[in-house]
Formats: sequence, C-alpha cells, structure tokens
Amino acid sequence: MKTKKALVLAASLALTGPCGMAQDLTLRPDNIDQILDALTIEEKASLLVGGRNENFAGGNNATVGGTRDLVPGAAGTTRSVSRLGVPPTVLADGPAGIRIAPTRPGDTETYYATGFPVGTSLASSWNVDLVRNVGRAIGNEVLEYGADVLLAPGMNIHRSPLCGRNFEYYSEDPVVTGLIAAAYSNGVQDNGVGVSLKHFAANSQETNRTGVDEIVSPRALREIYLKGFEIAVKNSAPWTVMSSYNKLNGPFTQENGELLTTVLRDEWGFDGIVMTDWIGQRNTAAQVRAGNDLMEPGQDVQIQEIVEKVKSGELAEADVDKCARRMLEYIVKTPRFKGYKYSNKPDLKAHAAITRQSATEGMVLLKNNDNTLPLKDVEKISLFGITSYDFIAGGTGSGDVNKPYVVDLLEGLTGAGLEAEGSLCDLYLSYKSYMENKKEADRTGGRGWGKEILPEMPVSRTAIDKQAKISDMAVITIGRQAGEGHDRKIDDDFNLTDVERRMITDVTDAFHAQGKKVVVIINTGGVVETASWKSLPDAILLAWQPGQEGGNSVADVLTGKENPSGKLTMTWPVAAMDHPSSLNFPLSGNAGFRRRGERENVDYTLHKEGINVGYRYFDTNGVDVSYPFGFGMSYTTFSYSKPVVKAGKDGFEAHVTVTNTGAVAGKEVVQLYVSAPKGDVEKPVHELKAFAKTRTFAPGESQTLTFKVDNYSLASFNEAKSEWIADKGVYAIGFGADSRDIRCKADYRLAKTLSYPVNNVLAATRPL
Ligand code: BGC
Repeated sequence: MKTKKALVLAASLALTGPCGMAQDLTLRPDNIDQILDALTIEEKASLLVGGRNENFAGGNNATVGGTRDLVPGAAGTTRSVSRLGVPPTVLADGPAGIRIAPTRPGDTETYYATGFPVGTSLASSWNVDLVRNVGRAIGNEVLEYGADVLLAPGMNIHRSPLCGRNFEYYSEDPVVTGLIAAAYSNGVQDNGVGVSLKHFAANSQETNRTGVDEIVSPRALREIYLKGFEIAVKNSAPWTVMSSYNKLNGPFTQENGELLTTVLRDEWGFDGIVMTDWIGQRNTAAQVRAGNDLMEPGQDVQIQEIVEKVKSGELAEADVDKCARRMLEYIVKTPRFKGYKYSNKPDLKAHAAITRQSATEGMVLLKNNDNTLPLKDVEKISLFGITSYDFIAGGTGSGDVNKPYVVDLLEGLTGAGLEAEGSLCDLYLSYKSYMENKKEADRTGGRGWGKEILPEMPVSRTAIDKQAKISDMAVITIGRQAGEGHDRKIDDDFNLTDVERRMITDVTDAFHAQGKKVVVIINTGGVVETASWKSLPDAILLAWQPGQEGGNSVADVLTGKENPSGKLTMTWPVAAMDHPSSLNFPLSGNAGFRRRGERENVDYTLHKEGINVGYRYFDTNGVDVSYPFGFGMSYTTFSYSKPVVKAGKDGFEAHVTVTNTGAVAGKEVVQLYVSAPKGDVEKPVHELKAFAKTRTFAPGESQTLTFKVDNYSLASFNEAKSEWIADKGVYAIGFGADSRDIRCKADYRLAKTLSYPVNNVLAATRPL
C-alpha cells in the first residue's frame, strides 16, 4: 500500500502545473500505468464489472438488457471512475444495425436505426468490399447514436440448419465466416468505434445455451469452430471479443483460460478486451483469471467479490491488473473518452439506399427456367403468401433492430411499376389485420423480441383458378422467422407446412394450366427444405431477410434492375436429417434456460461429426443435396479461363480470368477449393481456401481475379501432435462456381512437409 501511495504522490507531483498547483490525474492514452497505480482495488474491480442494467433479472437468468442512461436501449455500459477521468462507455447490439430505443420518454425526437440485411444475406454476397461498406454505414450509426462498441459480428458456424440464430451468422465454412467477419469489423471500426466478435466459441445451439457443454474435438475446434475467429482476429484487430454462454469441453468459455488467453491472445495475438455474453454473476474469480476482462451486465456483488478475493489471496491482484489495464487501453480508444459530440442524426436516407442495394447482392437465384426472371411482359401479378404483405426484414432477439419501417413485397412491386392483383391483395390484407388483432396466442414463430410471423392463409383452389385467369403470373412468398433463445424444428419450420405445400402445388398447377409462370420468393434467415417442391415453380429467388428495404430489394432483382450475384454459404440439404450433426442436435425446437442434468443434446452435446460439417461431409461422401454450398445463378453466364497458379515464398498466388458470356451485365463469385495430399489425418475431399468476386462487367468483358493462399492455411490439425501440418505433395486447386461445379484446375506442389505447433489445449472431456 505504501508503495502505491508513494507512486500516486509521484504522479501528482509530476503533474504540477505552471503556477505550482497540482493538477488532477486524468486518464490519457499515455498514462495508463499511472492510472493503474492510482486506482484502488475497488475501482479496478469496478472497471471489470459492467454497469447495472435495470431490465436484467440477475443470476443465471440471461435477459438482453436495455440500459436507460447514456444511450437508452443499448445492451450495456462499462463503469466510470470519474475522479481519474475514466468515462463510462456504451455497448449496443448488433449485428444487423445498432439496437437502441427508438423513442424515449419526454422526448419528441425518434432514434430509429437502419435495419440492414442479416448475416446470412451479407455473407451470401461473397463481397468483402460490400460487407465493409455496410459495416461502415452501421458503424456510423453506432458513432452518431453515441455508442462505443457494436456487439457484432455474430460469427458462429452453421453446424446445423436448425440453430435459431443462424440468421445472425455467416456460414458453415470458417473461411467465409472469417473473411466476411473481418470485412464487417473493419467497416464498423473505420468509424473509430469497436466491434465484438461473438459468441466465442462453439455456441452452436440455442437450446439450453447457458448450460450446455459443447463437446468438440480439438481438431474440429481448430479447423471449424475457432478458425473463423482466428481469421477475423488476424485480419481486423477487433476491439473486443464476446465469450459465449455455453461450456466448451468442460468449463464455461467465460472461465476458460486456454480459450481466452492461450489461444486467443498468446497464439493469435488478440490485444483487445474479452467481455462475457449477458449472464450476470457466474464464477467471477475464474473469469478474471481466464482473461475475461469485462462481465456483463454488471452487478455490484461482483465488485465486492473481486475485492474480497484479492484481499483473501484467492485471486491475484496481478490478474485483476491485467484486465484493468486492458479495460483502460480499450476506454482510451472510444469516442466517449475522446469527447466525440454525437449528432443523434445519422444519414438514415443514405443508409437505406445502402441496405437496399446490398441486400440484392446477397440474394441467391436458385432456379430460373426459361429465363423467367427478370420479368418480361408482366403487368399484373397475383401475389400469394402472407409474407408478401408482411415481409421479414430480420430475425428475433438481440439482433432485431428497431427500424423505422419495413418495405413489404406489395409495396416493392408497386413501387417498381407492377400491379398486384387487387382482390387477392384485399383478401390477404384483411386476413393480416384480422390476425394482427387476435391475441398473442394465435401467433406462431415470433418467439420473443422482434417480428412475429402470421400463419399462412389457406386460399381455395377456386380463388387460385380465378387468379390464374386474370393475372399475368404469380409470385409466392414463403416466410420463416427464427431467433435468439430457440432452435428451429424440422416439421412446419425447416419443412414447409401443409398449407404452404398446398399453395405452391395449387398455384403452379393453375397458372401453368393457363401457360403462366410462377416465382417463389424465400424470405428466411436460415435454410428450408426445397427438394420436395422445387420442381414446381419456374423460378426461385432466395431473398434471405434483406433488411428494412426488403420489398424494394426483391423488386429490383425481379425486374432486372439488379442482377442477383449471391451464392449459398451453406449447403441446402435434401432433408434436415442428412446433416450428420442432426444426430446430435436438439430437434425439439425448445429452448430452456437454467437446465441442469445429463440430457444429451440439452446439457451436453457431442460434436460426433467432428470436421464433417456442411459440404465437407456432403461432398466427401457424395451425398445428394438440394443445392450445394456455393451455388447461385445469375441472369447472365460466365466462362473461366485456364488458371495460373504461381508458387511464392510461403504459399501460392492464383489467377483466373472470368468472362461474361451472357447477354446482360453481372458479377461472378469464384471459389477456390483445395484437395490436399494424403497425410496422417483423414482430409475432406476439398476445402474452400479463398474466394473472389468480379466487379459488375458487361457481356463480352473479362476480369482476372487474384487469390492468395499461404501454406499455413493449407494445413490440417493433427491433434495427436498438436500441430497444424501441411503435408508435402500435390495440392489440387479447383476454381468453382460452387462446390460441385469446379470449372478448372491447377496444381500446387509443396516440396516438404511444414508443421506449425500450437499449445495442446481444449481437449474433449467426453468420448466422441
Ligand atoms: C446475446 C448477445 C447480445 C447480448 C446483449 C445476449 O443474450 O446472446 O448476442 O449481444 O445478449 O444484448
């Protein structure tokens, strides 16, 4: 204590002003050591414990917060130490835009934020420049609404199509996940605000997410579940990472030093702060020791606990200091520390234009027989499906943005100069208002925060026959909603409901009988079953959940104003059970907090499939799929030149020239897959290692794409040796339009085996 007082004295003496008056010690980027010395243990502890959250129930009852001070509706804050000039900072959700309270008591202003396309939509653009640009717009709203950190990107792997939060995440593949997350993070952070990569790690299911122990082999962890985070950390220097709710191979991730310190900091070089997901009090000392710097949302009792444990010697003060130092290093970067005068007036109009355009680039054209799309010679459309009139911009939960409006498809088509047949519109609109007026109990799918969807309206065959006579064509929207706290079910969710099947069958039958076409729009955040009905319509457009301009974005694609260039970032299987993970996934669609026990897939989940996630399984085993990973059509066609692969000092550079061979301008995504030579471990038939997208180019034009892959990225993880190993031999490099359409190939030869040893940590705690 004596030493500390002496240091504080020295610090204040050093700050003696020109008139001999001692100035107060105040936090600056270059005096963090002094501040640390000046902080009492109570103050240091308070930096590690987030601000109280009035809406938070406490204990293990995880509820998403809404702070009332600073920025109302933000998820949380950090605490201030005002005597040393340490300000509080504000953390707000993400990912599809900033989530804050749109209206505030006693205030006539509104604070709506732009609802951008969800994660699956952004990733499906395979366009890192576009994602960075969207990130920039989102980050600008974070800055201008007075927050310091956006709790995004969500970047867990789509282990199963049934995970309720897949809409917030990007892909079944870690390279897509990592590169898209890095682009998003760089875009947000371009504004001088931070991101939080979440949820670290293996938060693969919502069912019992705060209790489940995800049992994953070190190899699957390293190659699949951690890889995306590794890529994003190394390519975007995120300010923060959010540890997940779940346990991973034993301890909660929030208390796991092997994960948060050995891997994240020591191996990958992460130098920001780690915060918990919103759980309240758990094992505070274990969290501090593990390197989990910030506990959210905070409770005073956690501060007392830290202080008492330091005093009793149970917790080393040095561990508290490490976290406190990182908190201060974080705080000095924030706009709030810098005194930024936010406007509360971001340019919502400009951002609406960004979301409208970017959503079209994530849309995936799944089918387009006889060039049904873009629409030609169509004036009057019969618009089927309740979702056409009630479009879904984004999923539910903390990822739901309080947006000013959502453009539905009716509005979008009308805005594009098309006519939606009036009597059918009237039918749907009166059903919609009837249903909306009914009680909560009559609703399906909504599950908590965010938009609920209405059950599909059955339409009689007679009414459909009439429509087929009076309209030029039909558009049907199939809508799906999912979100935080719940996983999806197979029946009536992944699979279509009977009413939806009937609608698709009757509408295609009736319209085809009149020689008229039918287009299905899928408005979803995650995968749905398509194999059983995709032969029926003439075209299928996967719109994802495209943000607040949704109806306009879809209309832009239907009319050909925009040429779709999205591709799937996950396999669309024939059946949900085709995924090997389905054998070890909660299939009930039930959520539950605070469950304790020994129930498989609830209290613990065995990732028995290891690295056989998504196309790694389907392609290696030749299993039929409905649409493969990477698939997506365009209104034009492309040819690929013979590729060139040049070996460099530490990997290779590849080039392929793409030519637009069709009749309209478009963009193509080229995926680089690598088939590795044999080694000590079994390897998938091929793995995505890089991708690139052309600019929009005209018919007849060409563009050469460049891909860079280093040798480390070619390695597989050998868990017996705890080494990444790139075996010597020939690597077959395939350039694909999707994972099953490899257009051209070249070889890369590695003369000697390379190994990259890492720490032997995170062992599975149950047999797999
Ligand atoms: C979610 C996080 C979110 C946090 C704060 C949690 O329930 O899992 O993704 O950032 O709440 O709202």
